[in-house]
Amino acid sequence: MRSPNGALLLRNVRLRTSSEPVEVLVKNGQITQIGKNLTSSYPGVDGMGGIMVPGLVDPHIHLDAVLTEGFPAPNRSGTLIEGIERWSQRKPYLTEQDIIDRAEEAIRWHMGHGVLHIRSHVDVCDPNLTALRALIAVREKVRPWVTLELVAFPQDGVFCFPNGPELMEEAMRLGADVVGGIPHYEWTREDGIRNVEFAFDLALKYQKPIDIHCDETDDEHSRFLETVANLCRRYNLAGRVTASHTTAMGSYNDAYAFKLIRILAQSGVQIIANPLDNIVLQGRFDTYPKRRGMTRVKELMAAGVTVAAGHDSIMDPWYPLGVGSQLFVAAMLAHVGQLTGSEELHEAFNSVTDYAARVMNLPHYGVRVGDLANLAIFPVPSIVDALRLLPRPTWVISHGTVVAKTPPEETTVQWDGEFQSVTYLRPRQNLGLLDAHE
Ligand code: FE2
Repeated sequence: MRSPNGALLLRNVRLRTSSEPVEVLVKNGQITQIGKNLTSSYPGVDGMGGIMVPGLVDPHIHLDAVLTEGFPAPNRSGTLIEGIERWSQRKPYLTEQDIIDRAEEAIRWHMGHGVLHIRSHVDVCDPNLTALRALIAVREKVRPWVTLELVAFPQDGVFCFPNGPELMEEAMRLGADVVGGIPHYEWTREDGIRNVEFAFDLALKYQKPIDIHCDETDDEHSRFLETVANLCRRYNLAGRVTASHTTAMGSYNDAYAFKLIRILAQSGVQIIANPLDNIVLQGRFDTYPKRRGMTRVKELMAAGVTVAAGHDSIMDPWYPLGVGSQLFVAAMLAHVGQLTGSEELHEAFNSVTDYAARVMNLPHYGVRVGDLANLAIFPVPSIVDALRLLPRPTWVISHGTVVAKTPPEETTVQWDGEFQSVTYLRPRQNLGLLDAHE
């Protein structure tokens, strides 16, 4: 929906920085005006007083594995180990078309939830690179309306997998956007460090950013993140290097964690937490007390480290749930990371918007004049209400065009003999107008 000259008027929308509803004019895929009583000669959509935010970002998912849960066998224990077993049983059935169909379905789920930018890891431990070829085709298909970045991800290791280094290089040649890694999965500490060094060498050679699955374990001796920080500093790659999961940080002693967080901040390494998978997969070897198996989100943020949050899985062998909602991911981050202070709730939301956009280096991201018109309008008045009620956005706009819509739902409850509307909303004195742009 937009006029021939590419204009669209978004009426009656609330911004995080203004308590009163405003109008936003979009032309040729850009926000050109924000104010009141803008001209009404353009086609428009009614935001009904809902909050408008930039299109949400999922900076960490595995699109090659989505929607494979249950076939050929379900994960009965729900553990990481059985998940890996089930995935290896699934691999022989993978075809390009199977991967394309599932990935596209998951992207549609994301879009319905206002997610317009996705970074997907792709398992390249496959001599045919089937998943990468399939997802490159998907990336090109969705390019007009969804940003899709692909990470060459060595799920089964680089040095403990046959031809691991050659497959990683071939993946970069084929067109992967980001170099991945998995140092904690190698057989020895020495090979783990080589795994990180290899990723940096490849990234420098192909001039690509880095996103390494790093220390995704409860083992407090898994300490490859310090090598990531050290190489990031050495090669001056601040803002181009991301470490995902880093759950071992939840098990480090405080003195070591203090040192590590300091060098992460100094080197400019960015972190992605994945609270959905990690809260169910980590801590499985513990009895009680049982560790949360999460990276130290609050302390990292306090030190000035960019922390984003990813969905990681949707109905795959590791996580049987999920609907592509980055709002739900932010809400889970708030719970697991205890980000429930009034300003911290906004930081949780920033982890799936501004901070995730920073990780993906998305240009002109936001809701200011001049920003790209990639937007989601939720049927609630504030970010906190969005985190609490987890609605789907009423309108999702990509490059100035409506690409998804969900009519707001209404609940009525029988009370004193008649059905009354229940909105789940309470008047708030303070909408919490904290915005990462400010
Ligand atoms: Fe992951």
